Amino acid sequence: MIIDTHVHYDDDAFDEDREALLLSLANAGIGAVIDIGSTRESLPKVLALARKYPFVYGAMGLHPDEVGDLTDETFAEIANALADPKILAVGEIGLDYYWNKEAKDVQMSAFRRQALLAIERGLPIVIHSREAAKDTLDIVRELYGPGGPGEKLAQKGVMHCYSYAMEDARIYTRKLGFYLGIGGVVTFKNAKKLKEVVADTPLEYLLLETDCPYLAPVPYRGKRNSSQNLPYIIEEIAALKGCTPKEVEEATEANARRLFKLP
Ligand code: NI
Repeated sequence: MIIDTHVHYDDDAFDEDREALLLSLANAGIGAVIDIGSTRESLPKVLALARKYPFVYGAMGLHPDEVGDLTDETFAEIANALADPKILAVGEIGLDYYWNKEAKDVQMSAFRRQALLAIERGLPIVIHSREAAKDTLDIVRELYGPGGPGEKLAQKGVMHCYSYAMEDARIYTRKLGFYLGIGGVVTFKNAKKLKEVVADTPLEYLLLETDCPYLAPVPYRGKRNSSQNLPYIIEEIAALKGCTPKEVEEATEANARRLFKLP
């Protein structure tokens, strides 16, 4: 079974055909998807989708571009939703210095606050990090490295849409026990660095994700993405690792089940 660990089916882009699309996923071999919170408005939608469909799970959290909305009320809304058995993680949280919509110190404190909530509940985090390699690694080390409050957690989290150096990837996976989320970008011709990271990283640290409706793989680059495109990503990973697509599917399914404690 294929598990898509990062989707946004709550997005307006799916308003026309959400139900039909979700119900078609099983036929495409997609057995479970994790819908990831981003904006404050997305939170009740994520929860509703997870409660409605048995194969949809959720993560609750505010994206770094949105943390201006992280009031005590919204924080409590996130904390309360974590009690729902279908909500498996806190995310997506992190740092985004590309768009830089919120001040860096505001982003960093919201990242820490939400990650500490996850640690307190024993849940993994889903990290969004763009052009913030150093500050992200510093905070992850502080929280999950030696002496950090999350050090002892068996399952810590995933670096969604991994886009940093090989050196950092080795630290995140083999030193800190994080997973790398690999999506459509790995199929892009110009993604040389990511292809090298995937080739170098043991399969036991990789997760499949689409980030749909964004980041459709080749040959659909630029179009609306969906979990149905995951086979293109699986094929590329298999080619990079010199194994079969079936092996990629099985290993990433086991990884997703382990990290998110999927029933
Ligand atoms: Ni996302």
